[in-house]
Amino acid sequence: MAKTTFRKSGKKANAATTVSNAKSSRTASGAVRKKSRASKRPKGEEKTGRQLPRARRTGEIQPFFAMEVLDKAWRMEARGRDIIHLEVGEPDFESPVAVVKAGRAALKQGHTKYTPAMGIPELRSAIARTYARACRPPAGRIAVTPGSSGALLLIFGVMIDPGDEVLLADPGYPCNSNFIRLFGGRPKLIPTDASTNYQLTAELIRRNWRARTRAVLIASPSNPTGTIVPVEEMTSIVRTVEELGGVCVVDEIYHGLTYDVDVRSALYDSPDVFVVNSFSKFYGMTGWRIGWLVCPEYYIDDITKFAQNLYISTSAPAQYAALAAMTPQVRTECDRRRRLFQERRDYLVPALRGLGFEIPVMPQGAFYVYADVSRFSNDSEEFAMKLLQKTGVAITPGRDFGEYRHLQHVRLSYANTLERLQDAVSRLGAFIGEL
Ligand SMILES: Cc1ncc(COP(=O)(O)O)c(C=O)c1O
Repeated sequence: MAKTTFRKSGKKANAATTVSNAKSSRTASGAVRKKSRASKRPKGEEKTGRQLPRARRTGEIQPFFAMEVLDKAWRMEARGRDIIHLEVGEPDFESPVAVVKAGRAALKQGHTKYTPAMGIPELRSAIARTYARACRPPAGRIAVTPGSSGALLLIFGVMIDPGDEVLLADPGYPCNSNFIRLFGGRPKLIPTDASTNYQLTAELIRRNWRARTRAVLIASPSNPTGTIVPVEEMTSIVRTVEELGGVCVVDEIYHGLTYDVDVRSALYDSPDVFVVNSFSKFYGMTGWRIGWLVCPEYYIDDITKFAQNLYISTSAPAQYAALAAMTPQVRTECDRRRRLFQERRDYLVPALRGLGFEIPVMPQGAFYVYADVSRFSNDSEEFAMKLLQKTGVAITPGRDFGEYRHLQHVRLSYANTLERLQDAVSRLGAFIGEL
């Protein structure tokens, strides 16, 4: 069993926070290929006990490398250091008051049992109504899931056979590759850069399509870059994938958090795309573990079967809490928070550029900045570790997000107050000045 690390608060961190030492090797193309790190751990945390049966796939699933930074940051905090957390992937706001109230009420009212596997009908209908009339799916196509993570698991479960390929942008959200691997599939990471907003295009998809390619995953806005796929390009991607006989999976989890730009659901382009969304980010409900997917008609029975078997149902109180999130009052509160994120982005991006970080594309959504640090370092992990050690500013090295030019990039999250961001920028300035 993996050992877990401990936060300053004494709470056990998630098993994904297991710390281990990474080793990497270079491929002929210069990309860095990660090796499993499960066998190497810091002193005092070595695996102990008798060898037991262990699936080969455990060696293919990577831990979050960012956790090394986070773990160090927690240890420093425990020793009294003031740490500015810019490595976090969740809003710094609590869940809206009405949501918490509804969650409490649900428990009091006895909503503590299983629900239908696809979710309570009133929540499925409320989710369907969040989509504009022109693309609104029937409630029967909505599956309420344990976070969008649960949704992605279901999708790859019903779609992927061993050896099948899924195309993904590099850099991208790291768990996607692991979901695909769990079902024996092969994630194919396609290097992207500022010229395409760090996103796949119809042309890149066509060029990389092979006989075993089954699907494409697009996240717009993306983690770690905060960049989006423009509306016309999304239409063209959906058409291309349909023409090639595959399926588009579109992760719209950051849709409520976009700035200066109109985004629209990929459901406008086709009813046969899988759309994934969540209450985690816009509604600030990461810990409730609730999200959803919009399912093409063709897969509804399969998705239902998989949901029944994989987790029976999503948490009942979380579903009632989520229902309370879908009111105009909560929407107004979340919109206010969105404006705060925008204010932070509008401060942070020019400030970082002023220090010499290269950010060729203004992020238009989420709460991340993906910055090129090659002016200061050719090893973003070393850069992040030294920065943390010397200044107490925690950021995420690019390694978690893919293989392409990851050593030149870091991700900074602006899920922190403007005052703390200003403090972080002045610490960064001093750090860079001494390099
Ligand atoms: C792009 C993206 N998709 C999916 C997720 C999973 O979120 P959740 O399972 O909380 O809905 C995350 C979390 O950070 C993410 O950044």
